[in-house]
Amino acid sequence: MDLSGKNVVYFGGFGGIGQKCVQELLQRKIKSLAIFDLTENSQVLAEWKSNNPDTDIFYQKVDITQKSDIEAAYKATAEKLGHFDVVVNGSGLMNDRLIELTIQINLLGVVYSCLTALEYMDKTKGGHGGVIVNISSVAGLQPTSSMAIYSAAKTGVTTFTRALAHPSYYARSGVGFITVCPGFTDTGLLDDILNKTTFEYQPPMMAGKVKKQTAEQCARSLVGAIETGKNGAVLLLELGETHEVDIPSHWKPQFED
Ligand SMILES: NC(=O)c1ccc[n+]([C@@H]2O[C@H](COP(=O)([O-])OP(=O)(O)OC[C@H]3O[C@@H](n4cnc5c(N)ncnc54)[C@H](O)[C@@H]3O)[C@@H](O)[C@H]2O)c1
Repeated sequence: MDLSGKNVVYFGGFGGIGQKCVQELLQRKIKSLAIFDLTENSQVLAEWKSNNPDTDIFYQKVDITQKSDIEAAYKATAEKLGHFDVVVNGSGLMNDRLIELTIQINLLGVVYSCLTALEYMDKTKGGHGGVIVNISSVAGLQPTSSMAIYSAAKTGVTTFTRALAHPSYYARSGVGFITVCPGFTDTGLLDDILNKTTFEYQPPMMAGKVKKQTAEQCARSLVGAIETGKNGAVLLLELGETHEVDIPSHWKPQFED
C-alpha cells in the first residue's frame, strides 16, 4: 500500500515502538493519524503536529480493556475522517504476574479492536477496505516459558490474525490482515523484566543477554510490512530484518461422502 494520503489509526502510538512507527508513517505523508492510547503524551503530540502541519494528528483516549472505549474511539474517528485505511494494533503489556490484564490488553483488546475496525473498513458494510496490522511477538510464534501467559496471549493474536486473513473474508471485506512478530526490542516493555516472569525462577534464556533491536529498526520493518501489504503474512521482525514465517498446516478436515 502506498501510504501517502492515507488515514491511519495507531493503537499504542505513544509507546516505544509506537512512537517510532508514527515517525516513519509521518515521513510517508499520510493524511491523518488517530493515536489511540491509554494516556496522552502531550509534548510528543505537540511536536508531531508542529513538524507535520499537513497531517491531521489527534489523540483518542482508549483503555483497550474497555470495549466501550474502543467502540467510542472508532466511532469518533470515523465521524471525523469519513474512513480509515490502516489500523495498527500495537498496545501491549508484558507482566505475567498480572494474568487477567495480560490477556485483556494483549489478546481480548486486539480482538475487539479488529472487529470494531471492520465495522467501518469492510467493503460490504460501506467501508473502503484497507490493512490491519496486529503486533504479536516471537512469543506468539513459539512457547516462551519465562512469560507463559504473555506467550499464550500473543499466540492467540497470531492465530486470530491468520484466521481473519482467510482469502474468502478478504475477497468480501477488502481488509487484509498482517501479523508482525518482533524479537526483543529496546523499549520500556522490558523494564524490570525479571520481576514480571511467570514464576520467580526462570529458564536460563532470561538470565542470558538476548540481543535486542532498536525501536527504530522495528518501526522501519513494521511500516515496510504495511507497504508490502501481503494479506495473511506472518512476519518475524528481528534485529532490523524481516523474515516471512511459513507456519505448517497440521490438520486438514476429512469430509463426509
Ligand atoms: N519490546 C519488545 O521487546 C517487544 C517484542 C515483541 C512484541 N512487542 C509488542 O510490541 C507492542 C508495543 O510494545 P512496546 O515495546 O513499544 O512497549 P511499550 O510499553 O513502550 O508500549 C506499550 C503501549 O501500549 C499502551 N497500553 C498499555 N496498556 C494499555 C491499555 N490498557 N489501553 C490502551 N493502551 C495501552 C501503552 O500506553 C503504550 O503506548 C506490544 O504489543 C508488545 O507486546 C514488544
